[in-house]
Amino acid sequence: MTQRIALVTGGTGGIGTAICHALADAGVKVVAGYNSGGNHDKAKAWQEAQKTAGYDILIAYGDVTDEASCSACVAHVEEIADGSVDILVNNAGITRDGTFRKMSWEQWDQVLTANLDSMFHMTRLVINPMLDKGFGRIVNISSVNAQKGQFGQCNYSAAKAGIHGFTKALAQEVAAKGVTVNTVSPGYVLTPMVAKIPQQVLDKIIKQIPVGRLGAPEEIGKAVTFLCSDDCGYVTGSDFSINGGQHMS
Ligand code: CAA
Repeated sequence: MTQRIALVTGGTGGIGTAICHALADAGVKVVAGYNSGGNHDKAKAWQEAQKTAGYDILIAYGDVTDEASCSACVAHVEEIADGSVDILVNNAGITRDGTFRKMSWEQWDQVLTANLDSMFHMTRLVINPMLDKGFGRIVNISSVNAQKGQFGQCNYSAAKAGIHGFTKALAQEVAAKGVTVNTVSPGYVLTPMVAKIPQQVLDKIIKQIPVGRLGAPEEIGKAVTFLCSDDCGYVTGSDFSINGGQHMS
């Protein structure tokens, strides 16, 4: 069977790296999309570190907030991976936390653009080749905070909840052509994003998690990879919660 090609946006980040590893372990040819504020050297250093760890992962620059940049990114991926994208993991995302009263338009707009508009830009670029091939796997990374809301995250909760609406609508449109679309909603996972939360706030959050700890990025990577597998053709439009029991819906 030909090797599947995956593009993981935000692939060099905390959860992104674990997703890249798990997909590579499953025999997929993986391209990590990166932005890194345009710091290409940082991305190259990440790639070298993966190589040292035994992972041969390609990298492609792209700003998921910008349609032209996404287009150039996908064209580059097709060139370096020598084929079109079979698996898209829309993982890139940002936080700009603050209570709603203090939230600026910029904080709102940046989060909605990076977390939600990115779904439109990236998915539009890969969906037609998937439909033509009769195979595709799209996994959109949302959050427990979309499902339950989070103090200080009106922007992020709104964007991440929008992701699952997008997933369910698109899943219906492409189901008959072998393309599945699912959401994964991680809880609090030990990544640089969660490390930014003030310790006393984080301690209170951990007390609300029945499993009693933060999640590990690898626990997300393995679930995403399952949803991307050829065997997973009957799972579509679902929202897969991985949150240590913090929210049960
Ligand atoms: N529920 C109710 N009240 C709360 C509260 C809560 N969860 N948290 C704080 N408050 C209260 C405070 O006690 C304070 O009350 P007083 O004014 O009476 O003292 C008031 O609300 C204002 O709170 P702060 O002073 O803390 O407000 P701030 O502007 O300094 O900070 C914040 C607000 C930045 C949002 C801070 O609370 C915070 O960082 N919260 C964590 C947000 C969070 O969980 N982000 C997740 C990031 S990781 C991620 O997003 C990944 C993922 O998908 C899970």
